[in-house]
Formats: sequence, C-alpha cells, structure tokens
Amino acid sequence: MSKVMIFDHPMIQHKVGIIRDENTDHKLFRELISEIGMFMAYEVTRDLPLEDVNVKTPICETTVKRVAGNSVAIIPILRAGLGMVDGMLNLLPNAKVGHVGLYRDEETAKPVSYYCKLPDNITTATCIVLDPMLATGGSAVAAVDFLKEKGAKNIKFMCIIAAPEGIETLSKAHPDVEIYCAAKDEGLNERKYIVPGLGDAGDRIFGTK
Ligand code: PRP
Ligand code: URA
Repeated sequence: MSKVMIFDHPMIQHKVGIIRDENTDHKLFRELISEIGMFMAYEVTRDLPLEDVNVKTPICETTVKRVAGNSVAIIPILRAGLGMVDGMLNLLPNAKVGHVGLYRDEETAKPVSYYCKLPDNITTATCIVLDPMLATGGSAVAAVDFLKEKGAKNIKFMCIIAAPEGIETLSKAHPDVEIYCAAKDEGLNERKYIVPGLGDAGDRIFGTK
C-alpha cells in the first residue's frame, strides 16, 4: 500500500477550514489553495536529491548543497490542479510543468481524458501530481497511468482533501505512489462528492458553475 501522509499542521488545518466554508469567495479560495499547496510542498519535497556545488563565501571556498537541476516535474490535473501550481513554483521555481486534462463524467463519475502534455524530464524527475480533490480516485489513477506510460518512475500525489475511498483506490492501483493530503474526510455522498469536502474545487477556483 502507498505511504499516506495527512498534514496536521495548525496553519494548514486553519486554511482548510476557510476553504470549506461556502461563503469563501473564489478570490480567497484560489489564494488559499495556492498557499496550502506551498506549505505542503515543504514536506512533499523532503527527499529531493541534492548535489554538491562549490561556492566562495566572503571568507573562503566551501561546498554547499543545491537541489539537483531538472529534478522536479509538477503535473496539475486540469482544471482544479492548476490552482496549486503557483504555490509549488514559489518553492520550486525551476520545476518543469506538465498538464493532464481530465474531467469526471457527471453521470458515471468516471474520468474522461482530453489533454496530456508532459515535460521531457519525467523519466528521471520526481513527478508531483497536483489535484485539490481525491474523491473516487479515478482521476488520480488515470493521471498516474499516463505518467507511467510515458516512463515516469518516481511519482507523488498531492491533494488538499481526500476521501478514504480515493486513497484506497489510488493506493491499490499504484502502491509505489506516495499520497499527501491536507485533510482526510468522512467519505463520498451519492453523487461521489467528498463529505464534508468543499464542493466542486474547479468551480470554486475559477468562479464557474
Ligand atoms: C475534480 C477534481 C478531480 C476529480 C476528483 O475534477 O479536481 O480531478 O474531480 O474526482 P475523482 O477522484 O472521483 O476522480 P472535475 O472532474 O470536477 O474537473 P474540473 O477540475 O475540470 O472541474
Ligand atoms: N471533485 C470535486 O471537485 N469535489 C468533490 O467533492 C469530488 C470531486
């Protein structure tokens, strides 16, 4: 089974509480999704490879650590995953960004694919898939399937709200993929929305209905 990390940091829980509130408007919602993504990125990138680089301080020459170039690919699942990209890039400005376009069919809740464009470093990079919502897990599994078909080997999945059903489905399909969530909720309702959740993340980020 996958390694699963649920964040219990007070600042993250505080911000998650605000985005759950239906009265939070899309401007604040979008800002908080990005900020939560940035906080989570510290933990998700904990084991990034470092390389030694020689620099000269004002005092002497020394060897310092740098995150290895070309070592991270960020892959948002469209649309809602886009909301987490800026927060990640604040921390990892050199990361490459790929896009996987998937939407859930409203009747079946199954993912429908419409776009996939990935950077050239995915076979060697740490690939971090972003989506605020892990509900049934169908979209996450499909996105990881795409990445593996293209040769990605080191994949992490980062979401803000996860349903236990989604964690189980992703973990069974791809046990090698580490899952990071800001909150694990109770479950899914009859329309496969996360309860208590925050509603439709894409609509709330972009102000659509
Ligand atoms: C949402 C969300 C995930 C997916 C999660 O996207 O952003 O991609 O649903 O559900 P699942 O785990 O059951 O697959 P949606 O299909 O609403 O598309 P959108 O981001 O374009 O609004
Ligand atoms: N997608 C969302 O945006 N929200 C949910 O609760 C489930 C899927």
